[in-house]
Amino acid sequence: MERYPINLNEYAELAKKILPHNIWDYIEAGRGDEISLNRNTQIYNEVFLRPNKMTDISNIKMSTTILGDKTSFPLMIAPAGGHTFCDDDGELSTIRAAKKENIIAGVGTNSSYTIEDIANETDTPLWFQIYHLTKEIDEMLVKRAEKSGYKVIVLTVDGPVPGMDHLRPKERDIRNAFVNPPNTERVNLIGEIAGLGYKHGDTQVQLGGLNPDDQLLWEDINWFKSLTDLPIVIKGLLSAHDAKKAVQYGADGIVVSNHGARGVDTLMPSLQSLPEVVKAVDGKCEVYLDGGIRRGTDILKALAFGAKAVMIGRPFYWGLAVGGENGVRDVIQILKEELEVAMKYCGITDVENINPDLLSYNFS
Ligand SMILES: Cc1cc2nc3c(=O)[nH]c(=O)nc-3n(C[C@H](O)[C@H](O)[C@H](O)COP(=O)(O)O)c2cc1C
Repeated sequence: MERYPINLNEYAELAKKILPHNIWDYIEAGRGDEISLNRNTQIYNEVFLRPNKMTDISNIKMSTTILGDKTSFPLMIAPAGGHTFCDDDGELSTIRAAKKENIIAGVGTNSSYTIEDIANETDTPLWFQIYHLTKEIDEMLVKRAEKSGYKVIVLTVDGPVPGMDHLRPKERDIRNAFVNPPNTERVNLIGEIAGLGYKHGDTQVQLGGLNPDDQLLWEDINWFKSLTDLPIVIKGLLSAHDAKKAVQYGADGIVVSNHGARGVDTLMPSLQSLPEVVKAVDGKCEVYLDGGIRRGTDILKALAFGAKAVMIGRPFYWGLAVGGENGVRDVIQILKEELEVAMKYCGITDVENINPDLLSYNFS
C-alpha cells in the first residue's frame, strides 16, 4: 500500500480533511491577508544551499544541547495552547512523543492539561511558556512550573496585548463565528491550586478569555527573574534592537518568532530577522527560531544562520489529528531524516558547526 503522508505538507493536507473546517481554520489562520503566514514558509525557498563536496560524512552528529539539556537533534515543540483541538490526550500525546524521540517540549499556559499533569507524565525536559496576564497570575504559574520540574520559563512577549483579543479575531475565525470547544479550557487557571476562584465554563478560562491587565515592559524582566532560578527565554522578538535589550536584561535565550503570523500581518518573516538578531546577540545568549519550518532543509538553513535550534507549531497539530502520539512522532522523524540527508549532501558533519557560508540568499 502506498505510504501517505510522507512529508509535513501531506500531513497538513490530511489533517485538513480530518479536522472540522472551523478547527482547521483556527489552527492554520494567520492575521489579515496572511502575508506573513505565507512568507514564513516561502522565504526558505529563497535561500539556496552551497554544499561542500568530498568531505568525510561517515559520522554525522545531530544531537546537541539546548540550555544544557540534551536533544537528539535541534528541534523543539513550540509552546501552543489547545492540542486537544486535534486529539483527546492533547499535550499529553505530544510530550509522550517528545520523550520517545528525545526532544525538548514547550508547554503553554493555554494547555488543556495542567502544568502538574504534564510534568507527571514525562521526564523529558519541558519548557513552560507564559504570557503576561496579571502579576499575581504570572507569579502563580512560574512558581508552579518551577516546583513541577520544568527547566526553562519562556516569556512570550508578542502575544495578547491589553484589550486586543476581543477587538478583532483572525478573519477566518470571524467568518466561521468560531467558538472554542469546551475541552480547550485553560485548566491552569482553574481550581484550588490556581487560587483565582475561576470555575470550568467561566469566560476567563476560555482561550483568549482573559487579557493582560497592563503592558509588559523591559524592566519587568527583572521582576520575572526575581520569581525563579530557572533560565528565562524571551519569545517573539524580530529585531536587533530588541535582541540587544533582551541580552541587557539578562535573557538566557531568544526565540526569533512572529508567533506563526497570528498577531499582526506583514511582520517580518522570522528567518529574515534571524541574521540581525544573531549578530546583535553576538553569542551572549542562545538564539532559536520558529515560523514556517516544514522541511529538514529549513532546519539546516536556520542553523546555518546561527540558530541553536528551531521550534515548530502547526505541524504537531497535524500530527495529532492524523495519528495522535504516533503522528507527532512521525512528524519529528520525518524532519530528522530530512535534516540528516541534507547534512550529508552538504558535507556537514555536526549540527553545532554550520555557518552562513552554506547559504546563498538575497534578502536583508
Ligand atoms: C493554534 C496555535 C496556538 C498557539 N498558541 C501559542 C501560545 O499559547 N503561546 C505561544 O507562545 N505561542 C503560541 N503559538 C505560536 C507557536 O508557539 C509558534 O510560535 C508558531 O506556531 C510557529 O510557527 P509554525 O506554526 O509555522 O511552526 C500558537 C500557534 C498556533 C498555531
